[in-house]
Amino acid sequence: MIRVTNLRKQFVTKHGALAAVRGVAFEVKEGEIFMLLGPSGCGKTTTLRCIAGLEAPDEGEIWIGEQLVFADRGQKIVPVYKRGVGMVFQSYAIWPHLTVFENVAYPLVYGIFKAPKSEVRERVAKTLRLVGMERLEDRPAPLLSGGQQQRVALARALVYEPKVLLLDEPLSNLDAKLRAEMRVELRALMKRLNITAVYVTHDQEEALVLSDRIAVMHGGEIKQIGSPRDIYVRPENDVVAGFIGTANLLPASISTVPGNAREGLVSTPIGALVCSLPPSAAVGQAVTIMFRPEDVLVSVSGIGQSRNTFAGIVEQAVFVGSRFQCVISVNGLKIECELPKSQVVESGQNVAVEIPCHAIHLLP
Ligand SMILES: Nc1ncnc2c1ncn2[C@@H]1O[C@H](COP(=O)(O)OP(=O)(O)OP(=O)(O)O)[C@@H](O)[C@H]1O
Ligand SMILES: [Mg+2]
Repeated sequence: MIRVTNLRKQFVTKHGALAAVRGVAFEVKEGEIFMLLGPSGCGKTTTLRCIAGLEAPDEGEIWIGEQLVFADRGQKIVPVYKRGVGMVFQSYAIWPHLTVFENVAYPLVYGIFKAPKSEVRERVAKTLRLVGMERLEDRPAPLLSGGQQQRVALARALVYEPKVLLLDEPLSNLDAKLRAEMRVELRALMKRLNITAVYVTHDQEEALVLSDRIAVMHGGEIKQIGSPRDIYVRPENDVVAGFIGTANLLPASISTVPGNAREGLVSTPIGALVCSLPPSAAVGQAVTIMFRPEDVLVSVSGIGQSRNTFAGIVEQAVFVGSRFQCVISVNGLKIECELPKSQVVESGQNVAVEIPCHAIHLLP
């Protein structure tokens, strides 16, 4: 439905050229919600603006449905209004001189999505109900809060039920509770309308909840594309591991590769660890090992016989309601752990820390 190949865009600033997007490529299937996730400045908005037609790329090709909307060879550029996509942008840009109703009705009254007059009221009302703004129909736009304006922008993009929707941080101005609700509702809504969406966020939780697939961006490049679960459980590199969730990352080198077994030994600053090795593993190879805080097992009853178990001292234990977030020092290194709220620990306490073999991932 959407195909982007070798997309490149640089900006010329007074400090020289800045490569904002450096060879980005991905495909979004019909009805799929595809996330561009990454830290501030990694090129998410620029990529989205290129798809929308608001920015002219330097190189690459962009297809929307059957239409080639941009190609560097031949300089084919289809203008924004002919791409037939709905857009919700970071700066929500609703019309300040119009009411909520008039803002949402706008695409049905003007432009290529014009609808019969008799339908406008009902469609606008339905869409405002979807975003929880039905009681504010007549409110002038400047008298809305940031979160309300954002919902009007969303309604305006949804009202003509576009096949393709481009969203740039559409929930960023909502308070935490409303944002959590809207994530779930927005996903259900897009699924019901079978909308194909490219959705930009720097919020990993939003990406995990809302998307079918995620592209993790960093420095203008895509570092991994996968399902939310894939990205979380099997990050392919330390950038992805470090950005999604909390990860313990340790430099390591492979010290023993047994002939037939899949498990070998790696040496790390906290000690030797048993973990499964890829077929390509070689003695001496430098790797990074990664494990998640929630997979670390902590016990107060001594070290015992389990593998991958080390003595540690609790440095910090913060109660966050559903669990304890702890930092435990093991051989001088800080390990992040999560403990169930029933397992009360205190700073200064001696504990045993086990890093289960199955929880350890090797990154190149
Ligand atoms: N019009 C512009 N002129 C010059 N530099 C720009 C322009 N637009 C973006 N940039 C730069 O390009 C890089 C990528 O910007 P972009 O807006 O795509 O980032 P982003 O991933 O959307 O970040 P954020 O999460 O903060 O919105 C940044 O370094 C930014 O400063
Ligand atoms: Mg942005």
